[in-house]
Amino acid sequence: MDILAIKQRFGIIGTSPLLDRAIDIARQVAATDITVLINGESGTGKEFFPKIIHNLSSRKHGPYIAVNCGAIPEGTIDSELFGHEKGSFTGAHEARKGYFEVVNGGTLFLDEVAELPLSTQVRLLRVLETGEFIRVGSSAVLKTNVRVVAATNLDIPQAISNGKFRQDLYYRLSTVPITVPPLRERKEDIHLLFRKFSSDAAEKYHMPGIQLDEQAQNLLTSYRWPGNIRQLKNLTDQISIIEKDRQITGPTLMKYLPTGAFSDLPVLYKGEDDSKFNERELLYKVLFDMKHDMNDLKQLVMNMIEGGGEQHIQGENAHLIQRLYKEEGRQQAPARIIFQPGEKNGSEPVQEPEEIHETYSLEKKEIEFIRRALEKHDGKRKDAALELGISERTLYRKIKEYNLE
Ligand SMILES: Nc1ncnc2c1ncn2[C@@H]1O[C@H](COP(=O)(O)OP(=O)(O)OP(=O)(O)O)[C@@H](O)[C@H]1O
Ligand SMILES: [Mg+2]
Repeated sequence: MDILAIKQRFGIIGTSPLLDRAIDIARQVAATDITVLINGESGTGKEFFPKIIHNLSSRKHGPYIAVNCGAIPEGTIDSELFGHEKGSFTGAHEARKGYFEVVNGGTLFLDEVAELPLSTQVRLLRVLETGEFIRVGSSAVLKTNVRVVAATNLDIPQAISNGKFRQDLYYRLSTVPITVPPLRERKEDIHLLFRKFSSDAAEKYHMPGIQLDEQAQNLLTSYRWPGNIRQLKNLTDQISIIEKDRQITGPTLMKYLPTGAFSDLPVLYKGEDDSKFNERELLYKVLFDMKHDMNDLKQLVMNMIEGGGEQHIQGENAHLIQRLYKEEGRQQAPARIIFQPGEKNGSEPVQEPEEIHETYSLEKKEIEFIRRALEKHDGKRKDAALELGISERTLYRKIKEYNLE
């Protein structure tokens, strides 16, 4: 079965070479009995891989069981995996087979394998090496024929150096490692996945699908997606349900994206505390709004040029057009100065736009925007904070800090 057919069969969306590579390894290793370790951040789609491996292997008619090692209490995990004898512990009224016995001839998926206690890791290593295991409370050695595929979103080498994971088990598990790439390394797949989830949501909730305008698409692609595909799916569902307008713009999408994780924007502040987070939030909003205003301004100028229809207007105001296109960051263009059809240059002096000495100081920009927001809302902090996209408390603190009373 080729990679495309696998994607179709398992409902995997994406065309990224990194994803294809991961699927290709799974496909090739399926026919063997080799143990496979799937690595990848949370929400990247690791759970497709053990299914691919099982279904393309000669064990496909045998049992397949997925066990979430992180969800089973430490006290019962050995019994769950290897079984127990009657009376081996309080409550063990009957003997019970463990997964390694039940799955004989099939595939066992050990999800979140790094969560296994060290004592269970010893038992696991033994069964992987020899096919032998012992039920809890028994001394009889039993044999099984199970293929293990394990997965983790943790950094196992790190767990090894912290004494939480056995190095020998790591080597045994990762005979063939498969790394599932995070979404930010598969940017070409982001919009593709969004469209799929949007159409799924439309079908599920019986409403037209949402679509992104160009600005929103760029925003979606530049976001870091720490929660990967799971996060993208949840976000698409959320917007599908909440937004009335099915055409989603950049500013609308911005409301749903937690700030501070845009890979293509400069990292302005590094810090964990709440106030730093709010500062970052404010600055992203400022940058975003500036870009938005700039686009409007460009459009306005273009319309004037086209509407005026006189070549000389364009020529005589070349410096101004140039200036606007350099993205000076001005929020209010003195529109009355230029491009008034009929206002001929030469005789009447053209009022030069007020010269702004561009400052790249983020602090100054911040002060400027806070001032403007306060002026616009007649000093009403609540409204100004809302406009700035920060909390009133943060705004209050900043007013004090910059002495803007
Ligand atoms: N390429 C993809 N195409 C379509 N859906 C995907 C894709 N990758 C992941 N998903 C979906 O994203 C969700 C998360 O995937 P999955 O549960 O496999 O994540 P995971 O890697 O196991 O994360 P965790 O480590 O948190 O368990 C699932 O609903 C899955 O169906
Ligand atoms: Mg998982």
